[in-house]
Amino acid sequence: MKSRQESIELMNSYIESESLRNHCEMVALAMEAYAKENDKNEVELEEWWTAGLLHDLDWEKFPEEHPNKAVGEILPELGYSEAVIGAIKAHAPERTGKEPESEIERYLFACDELSGFMHAVSLMRPTGFEGMKVKSVTKKLKTLNFAANVPREDIDKGALLINKTVNEHIQFLIGVFGS
Ligand SMILES: [Fe+2]
Ligand SMILES: [Fe+2]
Repeated sequence: MKSRQESIELMNSYIESESLRNHCEMVALAMEAYAKENDKNEVELEEWWTAGLLHDLDWEKFPEEHPNKAVGEILPELGYSEAVIGAIKAHAPERTGKEPESEIERYLFACDELSGFMHAVSLMRPTGFEGMKVKSVTKKLKTLNFAANVPREDIDKGALLINKTVNEHIQFLIGVFGS
């Protein structure tokens, strides 16, 4: 199993953008929190965190191929596990043809776009995530020209995939990012 340090170094070697690194770290945090909530064992917990951290690994250097470069070459060559690679594959079904099925796959799909969206919401607030309410996020979700690049149907699909309402999913992530 790869150490967190190795994965962080890998991410830093492929991603220069501070904001993309930050996005990857947020998704890793979300995945770790959900792994704990779902009583995952130690190995699985690391896989959930790692899938979050590395899901956009090739986005900056290979935007056309993303995430196929990562799941087809970079990660297998480095010996990352099937679970991690499968999850990264399934976070972009329209690019890989793989829909999220296993638990880690469904959670990564669910955490990706919503984390990005909530980050955008946090930037609009003087206190960031602190004191953020579910309602302030859902209101922005209905404002279609806010973070217009985030597909609202993927947020709905993600919540459905983890058997939560969008509100419950947002509430959970406020707890994760706000602390
Ligand atoms: Fe992605
Ligand atoms: Fe992402």
